[in-house]
Amino acid sequence: MAADLIDGKAFAADVRGRVATQVARLQEVHGITPGLAVVLVGEDPASQVYVKNKGIQTKEAGMASFEHKLDAGVAEADLLALIADLNADPVVHGILVQLPLPSHLDESLVINAIDPAKDVDGFHISNVGLLATGQKAMVPCTPLGCLMMLRDRHGDLSGMEAVVVGRSNIVGKPMAQLLLRDSCTVTIAHSRTKDIEDVVRRADIVIAAVGRAQMVPGDWIKPGATVIDVGINRIPAPEKGEGKTRLVGDVDFDSAAAVAGAITPVPGGVGPMTIACLLANTLTACCRANGLAEPEGLTA
Ligand code: GUN
Repeated sequence: MAADLIDGKAFAADVRGRVATQVARLQEVHGITPGLAVVLVGEDPASQVYVKNKGIQTKEAGMASFEHKLDAGVAEADLLALIADLNADPVVHGILVQLPLPSHLDESLVINAIDPAKDVDGFHISNVGLLATGQKAMVPCTPLGCLMMLRDRHGDLSGMEAVVVGRSNIVGKPMAQLLLRDSCTVTIAHSRTKDIEDVVRRADIVIAAVGRAQMVPGDWIKPGATVIDVGINRIPAPEKGEGKTRLVGDVDFDSAAAVAGAITPVPGGVGPMTIACLLANTLTACCRANGLAEPEGLTA
């Protein structure tokens, strides 16, 4: 393996540590405790694990954690009423509604009911528009984490060729906006892109966020490029025994690592950065709500 490994676990621990330091300072100097409310509807096992981890890490950072668990069959009006209460609650600085929601609930109606200033996921249409127009927004956590890792490796990103593979609202599109804001030349590639391998081969920075296991092979990667793999896919692993599985990214790690300058592994790359950035966003939202300077190095 020629590439440097970008250790997302260590990076996320550092981000959480910096958040915790600034939270302690906020309390000491201003008597303010940032608070994050997480709303979970139903009992999806993966969502329950995410929400539990969010609660643990929020408390570890010294913030207040508020969990609201609602029945899978909750009426939309009741969920909207809870969001209205959280919007009005001064001890709540960040609100996250865990997705996906049960199918009888209108996801975009619910997300857009959140006060944009408390929208720590950055999914509210106002934040999407603010980001797209280069204004102060709440920025989606996973792309923010990728940006932090890229800035750490390269410092100034301006003039770099960046290719984002994938055009989701949660990762691909906001990632492209952030890279553009940092003055990269940005291409968004997707399932209909012609000669996608040539497009990816131009990139100094490759962000893979399509959700297809190992779809980006090493021979698509420009030698020395930085590869950020957002994918988390479970594939059969018969070598581990019958019926066993393992996690892989959207990049074929072994072949890409032989060519890239730096690469994130899966697991242990981008994944741990998402919750770390959620904490960073909650701190940012709290600082903004109180008219205080934003935390340095923890925003886009
Ligand atoms: N479900 C899985 N990841 C996320 C996330 O980052 N935010 C929300 N709201 N739901 C999720």
